[in-house]
Amino acid sequence: MLYKRTHMCGDLRLSDAGSEVVLNGWVAKARSLGGLVFVDLRDKTGITQITFNEDVPEEVLEKAKSLRSEYCVGVRGTVKERSSKNPGLPTGDIEVFADDIEIYSTSDTPPIYVKDDDNVSDELRLKYRYLDLRKSKMQRNLSVRHRVVKCARDYFDEQGFTEVETPMLIKPTPEGARDYIVPSRVHNGSFYALPQSPQMFKQLLMVAGTDRYIQIVKCFRDEDLRADRQPEFTQIDLEMSFAGVDDVIEVQEGFIKKVMKEVKGIDVETPFPRLTYAEAMERYGSDKPDTRFGIELIKLNDVFRNCGFEVFTKALADGGDIRGICVPGGSAEFSRKKIDKLVDEVKHYGARGLVWIKNDGSAISSSVGKFFSEEELRTVMDTCGAGDGDIVFIVSGSSKVTYDSLGFLRRKIAGLMGLLDDEQFNFLWVVDFPMFEQDEDGNIKAMHHPFTQPKLEELDKLDTDILGLRANAYDIVLNGVELGGGSVRIHDKDLQARMFKALGLTDEECAEKFGFLIEAFRYGAPPHAGLAYGLDRLVMLLLGEKSIREVIAFPKNQNAECPVCEAPAPAGEGQLEELGIELADHAE
Ligand code: AMO
Repeated sequence: MLYKRTHMCGDLRLSDAGSEVVLNGWVAKARSLGGLVFVDLRDKTGITQITFNEDVPEEVLEKAKSLRSEYCVGVRGTVKERSSKNPGLPTGDIEVFADDIEIYSTSDTPPIYVKDDDNVSDELRLKYRYLDLRKSKMQRNLSVRHRVVKCARDYFDEQGFTEVETPMLIKPTPEGARDYIVPSRVHNGSFYALPQSPQMFKQLLMVAGTDRYIQIVKCFRDEDLRADRQPEFTQIDLEMSFAGVDDVIEVQEGFIKKVMKEVKGIDVETPFPRLTYAEAMERYGSDKPDTRFGIELIKLNDVFRNCGFEVFTKALADGGDIRGICVPGGSAEFSRKKIDKLVDEVKHYGARGLVWIKNDGSAISSSVGKFFSEEELRTVMDTCGAGDGDIVFIVSGSSKVTYDSLGFLRRKIAGLMGLLDDEQFNFLWVVDFPMFEQDEDGNIKAMHHPFTQPKLEELDKLDTDILGLRANAYDIVLNGVELGGGSVRIHDKDLQARMFKALGLTDEECAEKFGFLIEAFRYGAPPHAGLAYGLDRLVMLLLGEKSIREVIAFPKNQNAECPVCEAPAPAGEGQLEELGIELADHAE
């Protein structure tokens, strides 16, 4: 038996030459050349070449010749310097001359190749995830995730935080996203919900005197999936007593500094820039701005106020705005065909159209050339700071439409023009979010959550200008992704009651949904504040991945299914009966 491994495959170097080693792993590749067999042996650390030659006993050579991809084997041999080096491998200076081999398990022909650049469909990758995870890139992703979690535990421990687990079976709260619901057997007709976050429990821990809380915690939200959203995801969840905005931000910046140093070897500069929500929207059209490139929004209301182009004057008359972006060097880059594609894409953000003006160095051209003189077009270009070779894109409509469309467009264009460097990490804080927003039906809802403290000096706006009231809420943003969000909480039960009232909740509804938290606040609640990071998103960005599925061992697919175990699945008749649940016909 060769179980007793001495080294990992990826760790051998020239300095190990002459050592006798035992390696365990999987056959990445096996080639037989007459009396020679070369095997690339893989484990989670990398690949080492094993060589079997005619010096080994006949039965060992025969076993080596029988090897196929993904056989699981142990090998004993001696490390030697390679005559022809393989610069593509960290272990490329050496090979191991085997003297014995043990085949632990054979393998059927694998349904996907264990190769980082294999172009197989995502569905197949997720179904055979245990093979997909054998890829060195995926093992690296898991290990970086582990390092980030370890770094969080170490750092927050040093800062006096206590890790506390909060319940997974809690009361349904039809707020925010949809809940995942779990039926109760003991209380037929009643249901638990899986937590969307431990928000109320971490606040109770502050009332309980825990002072500083951390939890690496699974959260569950039944919402539409995107590249950075999963139905179950992980938060690094934090709460601090006797803390305000600056205290939270200072502690978090220390954490990010440590993660970046330990995981990426990069010294990031703190403090991070802070943008108010209003400034972020005005400059970048987004509350999670990507600041790795310029292309900022420019308000053009004044330039077009008296123009002859009806689309623009009507937008202004309707109380809307006109905003543009200038893309340096974009004149040659954006052909009519490419622009047409962008026009289709901004329509998803409510824009009716996309006006462009180009300066190709010799002439000015525009999609609205017939409505403007060249002189007027030049004035617009000058206002946008556009020169030779540049293009300006303009959107009119409600301010939300102009922000959303151009916020999307600037990032899309940056991607197309290769301006997004995965190794540049622009952390920033967005602060002073509005307390409330209006949903599509005109209802007022909390922008962050109803426990967020409004700016106390603006409280009179509750009655006069509710949408203008700002909150002590903050998000941490990295390269256009919301990495985390949090706020100072309300710890005064009277103020909390006012906020619930502003949200249109009756006393009964408050008592029903949040009664336990309101009651706890009667017994000496400390001032407190906190934040939660999306761990999956943080790891995704550290690794330059485009989807959080790449950093989750067993993620759900686009349809919220687990392709490995095939969840969700029908429950057994007996189970449903015990739970007192009868299925409607259409659900069968
Ligand atoms: P919030 O809802 O902003 O705040 O969530 C915090 C962070 O969690 C991540 N996140 C997600 N990641 C993957 N998939 C999802 N479906 C998903 N939803 C959210 C994001 C986000 O920034 N209790 C509050 C925090 C607080 O106030 O302390 C909360 O959950 O990175």
